[in-house]
Amino acid sequence: MQSGFPFIPQSASTLSDDVDAVYFYVSGVTVFFVTLISLVIIFFVIRYRRRNPFEIPRPVEGSTKLETLWSVIPLIIAMTIFAWGAKVYFAQYRPPQHALDVYVVGKQWMWKFQHPTGQREINELHVPMGRKVKLIMTTEDVIHDFFVPAFRTKMDVVPGKYTILWFEATKPGRYHLFCAEFCGMNHSGMRGYIEVMEPADFDNWLSGNANAASPAAAGHALFESLGCASCHGANAEGGRGPTLLGVFGSNRVLNNNQTARADEGYVRESIINPQAKIVTGFGPIMPSFQGQVTEEQLLSLVAYVKSLSTTRPETGTAKPPATGTPQSANPVR
Ligand code: CUA
Repeated sequence: MQSGFPFIPQSASTLSDDVDAVYFYVSGVTVFFVTLISLVIIFFVIRYRRRNPFEIPRPVEGSTKLETLWSVIPLIIAMTIFAWGAKVYFAQYRPPQHALDVYVVGKQWMWKFQHPTGQREINELHVPMGRKVKLIMTTEDVIHDFFVPAFRTKMDVVPGKYTILWFEATKPGRYHLFCAEFCGMNHSGMRGYIEVMEPADFDNWLSGNANAASPAAAGHALFESLGCASCHGANAEGGRGPTLLGVFGSNRVLNNNQTARADEGYVRESIINPQAKIVTGFGPIMPSFQGQVTEEQLLSLVAYVKSLSTTRPETGTAKPPATGTPQSANPVR
């Protein structure tokens, strides 16, 4: 399970080698200068030691040339670390356009997953190799942190909002998942595995585990039972409230003339705190659903709203909410 270099975990995602490269670069620069400075100190201590008790050293004048040199060289080195680090950071934390969405809810002390086709898992997540997976994460209680060392990726999971993490696994296998934020008594037990499978094996696994309603279908049922349809229309076509068709992924014009992008966080906020962003042309009439829906139900509602956008950027192909067609039958990258 170890990589060639024994002090780091296996490298199993498209970004892990990039992260390692930055890490070794920073470590290399550090080791180089620690060695250089230590050697120079030792050399100076010997070379310029006091040779007789009455010696008076020659006064030292400043050297503009030397000072410029020792300012400019470190600046250049620091900027290479910054630029390289920023490049890897943005690659890691900008979610890709087309990915397999997985919904994640952290809870003291477990990880709950749901696939877009409905399968639920606890402390174990099956994903296909060679495909981008996007996790939409939140928590029912305190802050947790989703950490997969082999993928070199990590993201806080925060109550009351969604955070996004994505990866593309490059090797089949079973990789540790840890909670990396102290979250109470059994924090150290809040761990699990990411099971990376060959795409065909994953499709088999997925079809062999189809027992739950897809989040979008569950969201549709909630949409009806919570009475959303009375304002947003029976098919979410709109009424007293705005239509939800095609909303996900679009830019919404608000009544204060600002715009907001309708992503997962926007949909969540519109359900929990509807007054925060009101679409232009509509009144502030929607009640808050705070406390009436669990985090998992909220994610289902988000999945339903997503499914109403035919051009939703997340998969490129929209699925009607209630069909339950396995997304993996139609892999999109
Ligand atoms: Cu959850 Cu530590």
